[in-house]
Amino acid sequence: MTQEAVPHTPTLSHLPVLPQEVMDALAPAPGRLIVDGTLGGAGHTRMLLERGATVIGIDQDPYALSRVEAEGLAGLRTVRGNFRDMQTLLAGIGVTQVDGILLDIGVSSFQLDDVERGFSYHSEAALDMRMSQSGPSAADLVNDLEEAELAALIYEYGEEKHSRRLARAIVAARQSAPIETTTELADIIKRAYPGFVRGIHPARRTFQALRIAVNDELGALREGLQAAEALLAPGGRLGVISFHSLEDRIVKRFLLGSERLRPLTKRPAVASEEEQAANPRSRSAKLRSAEAVRPEVKA
Ligand SMILES: C[S@@+](CC[C@H](N)C(=O)[O-])C[C@H]1O[C@@H](n2cnc3c(N)ncnc32)[C@H](O)[C@@H]1O
Repeated sequence: MTQEAVPHTPTLSHLPVLPQEVMDALAPAPGRLIVDGTLGGAGHTRMLLERGATVIGIDQDPYALSRVEAEGLAGLRTVRGNFRDMQTLLAGIGVTQVDGILLDIGVSSFQLDDVERGFSYHSEAALDMRMSQSGPSAADLVNDLEEAELAALIYEYGEEKHSRRLARAIVAARQSAPIETTTELADIIKRAYPGFVRGIHPARRTFQALRIAVNDELGALREGLQAAEALLAPGGRLGVISFHSLEDRIVKRFLLGSERLRPLTKRPAVASEEEQAANPRSRSAKLRSAEAVRPEVKA
């Protein structure tokens, strides 16, 4: 693996996570075609381009794409869509095999910072959370799901132990009027939450659960991994950055069971103390990376 120093761009909240580790994993170089399946603010993509790779940047968020497209980065081609449909999206532009694929899953700091998108419980906005701007919103789920379904969703995707109590409170509150904003929901949760957990906002896990459900993030990850396995050329590299245990478990199990992908490291890469101090978002990031081999060479 290469160990060249990675220059850090000093725009604090939009720093790409695990920058050096991602470059080591993907081995960008002139002549290599790499798919960034989660283009976002193009932090990683810029680094891949600087190292001479050609990049196809996919994002389901039209705002993310237009922001990056306005920069006119040389060597980058953008495609709007979900990375779970990577094979079809790439076939549409005549690409059937690539040398690297990066998935840096979840929401971007641009999306979190954009109050209107409804991801944050701190600011008043419509309860939306749709990265792609289509399909049912978080408000639809909160107002339409049965209490038991809501409890299961909050428990499973939010790993929230008070899920039943919170689902009960949500269902009781929506009987008088539909829940339409982020702060309405956050207040309902705050009132129902037993005891105050220092440091963690009581609505945090429920908001995470809704975001994962609204965007079917785990389903997209499973299908995205299958697509990546099929698209990588022999010697091609995959890097997946996840931010919580549910996602990391999916990636770990997928790599263990894959006929074609051999993990590059036994344990996932995590951020150094220095990176964690400079970029708090990196604290929960885990990078798993793998190389595509011919079936007969997988150890
Ligand atoms: C964490 S950010 C990526 C940040 C990027 N690596 C950077 O350095 O700027 C995730 C981005 O991926 C997009 N995204 C998340 N899930 C996606 C999916 N299943 N398909 C396509 N884009 C997705 C989001 O819209 C968001 O812009």
